[in-house]
Amino acid sequence: MYMYKTYSDILKALEENSHLRSIKNFSKKNEKYIYFGEKRLLNLSSNNYLGLADNRRITEEFMKFIGGKYSFGSASARLLTGSLPIYNELEELLANLYNKEATLLYNSGYHANVGISSTLAQKNDVIFSDKLNHASIIDGMQLSQGKFFRYQHNNMESLEKLLERERNNYNNAIILTESVFSMDGDIADLKKIIELKKKYNCILAIDEAHAFGVFGENGLGVAESLELINDIDLIIGTFGKAAGSIGAFVTGNRVLIDFLINKSRSFIFSTALPPINIAYTKWVIENKFPKTLDKRIQMLELGKKLGSQSHIIPIILGSNKKTMETCEILYENGYFTLPIRPPTVPENTSRIRLSLTTEITEKDLEQLCSIIG
Ligand SMILES: Cc1ncc(COP(=O)(O)O)c(C=O)c1O
Repeated sequence: MYMYKTYSDILKALEENSHLRSIKNFSKKNEKYIYFGEKRLLNLSSNNYLGLADNRRITEEFMKFIGGKYSFGSASARLLTGSLPIYNELEELLANLYNKEATLLYNSGYHANVGISSTLAQKNDVIFSDKLNHASIIDGMQLSQGKFFRYQHNNMESLEKLLERERNNYNNAIILTESVFSMDGDIADLKKIIELKKKYNCILAIDEAHAFGVFGENGLGVAESLELINDIDLIIGTFGKAAGSIGAFVTGNRVLIDFLINKSRSFIFSTALPPINIAYTKWVIENKFPKTLDKRIQMLELGKKLGSQSHIIPIILGSNKKTMETCEILYENGYFTLPIRPPTVPENTSRIRLSLTTEITEKDLEQLCSIIG
């Protein structure tokens, strides 16, 4: 017999399995700490990698620079009347930095990935996607009219097997991967992926969401640090993390970008970001990224010391319950961490994900290390 479940039943089941999510209301934040009432905690749960977000000094500096020039609303999608010159200026800045023909801004990394992965694979096309790619990539692939296959995480044999078996059955083929993986902090084997992309005639798109602003001399990402930018067809970056702003971009050749402008629904059917945010993002990239190089190197060294390839350090505890309990103990000791549970990560790999920022020192973490052992 069909078992009817109400929404409340489903929420109750989530709660029983320690899966229930709720929004935490903190009282204030700055570039290093988060406050719950009067309790101050070291924020290890933020993507504010360069300490630019929630930073009063930076905000004041920008507001002084920009004055009242830009408004807080764009009132339209870009294809209607939502595109002042500042949008183009930011796109041109990024295209020049990456030495690509064109760039397109999106309202967020989620919009960008959904737009790109749902659009590039048309009927008779195919996407090969890393199994641990972000939800926004998966959602886009599910909306796409093309086919998609997921290869085992960062496993080049698994990717090649799929390419060997499937590539010739399709028209366009796209390989899609994150560069720094958001939940595991490891880095895609970009050199090998580029070799495979060339061998099997694919388009390569990489999501540098967690690497933009962090890796590479100019903060352009892992592709810059490995000198591979020219071998990658589409590079996606987000502004909501290291840049301390909001939005995203994709940069690549003119045809691909024009195709996205014409076909990607998350770009076409959404009001553009406010001009003031676009101006802020441009100002940050021009003025703040280059200055943080030494601090970024220190942060990545600390990440390495803690056993990661990046500034994101997963502490895998397995069960939801143990993960929740450990977060609670850390909270009592002044550390703000969040439990990461399925479906964000695979079953039985619940974890605490530490994300470092340039403000956090090794000394700040001494007590945390002794708690988690
Ligand atoms: C790898 C990756 N791509 C894209 C996104 C989405 O970016 P945004 O927060 O700007 O929507 C995230 C967000 O966490 C991410 O981790």
